[in-house]
Amino acid sequence: MPISILPDQPQNTTSPQQSGNPFKEVRSRVEENLKGVKKVIAVHSGKGGVGKSTFAVNLAAALTKLGFAVGLVDADVDCPSCHKMLGNSGRVFADERQRLQPVGAHSIKFLSVGNMVESEDNANIMRGPIMFKLVSEMLYKADWGNIDYLIVDLPPGTGDNPLTVMQIAPLAGLIIVTQPQEVALVDARKSADMAKRMGVKVIGVVENMSGEVFGEGGAEKIANKLGTKFLGAITLSKTIRECSDRGMPAVLIEKPLFEAHIKIIRAAEI
Ligand SMILES: Nc1ncnc2c1ncn2[C@@H]1O[C@H](COP(=O)(O)OP(=O)(O)OP(=O)(O)O)[C@@H](O)[C@H]1O
Ligand SMILES: [Mg+2]
Repeated sequence: MPISILPDQPQNTTSPQQSGNPFKEVRSRVEENLKGVKKVIAVHSGKGGVGKSTFAVNLAAALTKLGFAVGLVDADVDCPSCHKMLGNSGRVFADERQRLQPVGAHSIKFLSVGNMVESEDNANIMRGPIMFKLVSEMLYKADWGNIDYLIVDLPPGTGDNPLTVMQIAPLAGLIIVTQPQEVALVDARKSADMAKRMGVKVIGVVENMSGEVFGEGGAEKIANKLGTKFLGAITLSKTIRECSDRGMPAVLIEKPLFEAHIKIIRAAEI
């Protein structure tokens, strides 16, 4: 008989809508703190390295360029990258009321554990409870002020951090980023299933690194299968990679890339 490693209803995965959410109190604190934020949008995929952070940063920058006030939370607390992609590794400070003050770059307010450590080269070794503390404090203890969008860049997988964010943040929805090839699509489907089970709306699927190397059209296919929207494709681009490495969102310097992101924003109707 085949074994099943997961119980039918894993513990502590109740969606915010279900009664008995063990994180109800933290969620109320987050909701209270994010009163000035019009929409909180998460970026996720089960698979690592598909370009979630790159997309989150460029989405934030494109929205800023459109005139919106935007914040970004890097919820990848052990291997953060948004501070690098935004080109500001300066330290985060708390004010006299112990509220975290987001740092800024390219008119985006953001918080990343990359801005809270002594050295980039040290591993951030931690278990679930510390991850929970870091992620939740970036949401309920930080001064986000009045902004139009708060983008939350999630780490890969369906474990602790995505689960925490889906439980405690009042998400308007979640955007799935995937490469077009089957190996990535398997995990994109897991992301959609997790969102569904957590009562989080899937806004749609973005195909990243589209083109000759990874293929084309895979994201549209799974979006159709999942009954969600295909939002658009971003090509595998040397400019994107170079820009990420030097802390500059590519949409701010290359028009076709900005236009590709605008198309996605329009399709997402966010
Ligand atoms: N469209 C693209 N064209 C070229 N390079 C890209 C593109 N999107 C992302 N990259 C590069 O691919 C690498 C992985 O991207 P990124 O860190 O955004 O992925 P991720 O899904 O957030 O990874 P993780 O799962 O580790 O959080 C980075 O070096 C980034 O610069
Ligand atoms: Mg990432």
